[in-house]
Amino acid sequence: MSDASPTTPRTTGGGPSTRTVSSAAHHATSDGKPLLEVRNLKKYFPVKSSGLLRRTVGNVQAVDGVSFTVESGRALGLVGESGCGKSTLGRLITRLYEPTAGTIDFEGQEIGQLSNKQMLPIRREIQMIFQDPYSSLNPRHTVGTIVGTPLEVHKVVAKDKILPRVQELLEIVGLNPEHYNRYPNEFSGGQRQRIGIARALALQPKLLVADEPVSALDVSIQAQVINLLQDVQREFGIAFLFIAHDLAVVRHFCPEVAVMYLGRIVEVADRETLYHRPHHPYTQALLSAVPEVSQAAAGHRRERIMLEGDVPSPINPPSGCSFRTRCRLAQDICARVEPPLLQIGPTHKVACHFPGELGKAPDRPITARLLGTDDAGAPDPGATPAEIDDRPGFGPTWYDLEARTITSTPRPGA
Ligand SMILES: Nc1ncnc2c1ncn2[C@@H]1O[C@H](COP(=O)(O)OP(=O)(O)O)[C@@H](O)[C@H]1O
Ligand code: SF4
Ligand SMILES: [Mg+2]
Repeated sequence: MSDASPTTPRTTGGGPSTRTVSSAAHHATSDGKPLLEVRNLKKYFPVKSSGLLRRTVGNVQAVDGVSFTVESGRALGLVGESGCGKSTLGRLITRLYEPTAGTIDFEGQEIGQLSNKQMLPIRREIQMIFQDPYSSLNPRHTVGTIVGTPLEVHKVVAKDKILPRVQELLEIVGLNPEHYNRYPNEFSGGQRQRIGIARALALQPKLLVADEPVSALDVSIQAQVINLLQDVQREFGIAFLFIAHDLAVVRHFCPEVAVMYLGRIVEVADRETLYHRPHHPYTQALLSAVPEVSQAAAGHRRERIMLEGDVPSPINPPSGCSFRTRCRLAQDICARVEPPLLQIGPTHKVACHFPGELGKAPDRPITARLLGTDDAGAPDPGATPAEIDDRPGFGPTWYDLEARTITSTPRPGA
């Protein structure tokens, strides 16, 4: 990270008169760096033509320029509808997929381009819990083998200590330690997910990517598994990237939440802000579908916002703002210019030209002046674009929506 002063505009590319909207000294752990810093990460899957030549005719832009940080021992929730790229993002971070572009910085090391061999020691540190506890456990292996194999592969305990360690792990996740010689089909869905959690914990990882870990489970046992995850997080100080398709699940687990739409993060904020004062129309629509949250939010029942139409194809996403085909606030600029993920509060970023609390969106795009366009998104030759900081995490300065200036002081009562 650069050590540029918060008040010193960076001038790269934009000439000496550009202004910086937020700055470099982002929140970090005590050693000065977040555990995970993902920057402009992309994953495109090629779409091939049929026939003999199988030419590439397009790309599924599954993850399209995502940046965020996860601090040591903290939990970031990642929420969005099915198909928005959450699992792909999780698989990029655990390096089950190769990134198309961007960087994944883990404990200060760029791991996005490491070979399988180079990744081996890091695989111990980053583990994944999968959505489907039925397909993610090999039915032909006993629980002892499933949980014990990582210990054996990474040689973390002596051979004769593997079984006692497996039993200890089974106990931690609330399973009978004597059941190590049973097979996955002898367990219920919730118990299988506990086996998956024991396997993920075996190597004492620093980061756990949990990809919809309770979506496949009965509602009655979802809370138990979430409580277990929360207990292990606290006890072992593990950082979590907790992926879910609705905002209700991550609400109690994650102090910070990012909302994804069509491969991009559209809003990220601390929990309080995201659930009570969301500024992106998509987050507002997602929240209005969570009754307890929408009622609690303003002390009265919120207007229910229906999301109309389908999620567009990630092969050919809409120009400008990818949410515009379903957004009731959309105007000309939304089709022309992609809104930057702009920091608008101490721990709040939003990617929208008209961000605001429900019913309080501004009449004119807040981004036009910053981007050097007119209100319809056409280039304005007289304007000086600001240099908008696209670094992950939150900086000490942000764009104040009311004052329309860069600030670092919260407004009274804000
Ligand atoms: N291996 C793959 N090859 C081609 N397209 C893929 C692949 N994996 C995912 N996709 C596509 O990428 C998009 C994002 O998928 P995914 O990451 O699974 O979303 P989510 O987990 O949010 O439901 C979807 O359009 C999906 O069809
Ligand atoms: S940029 Fe425009 S289309 Fe996109 S969310 Fe904001 S108002 Fe809606
Ligand atoms: Mg998924």
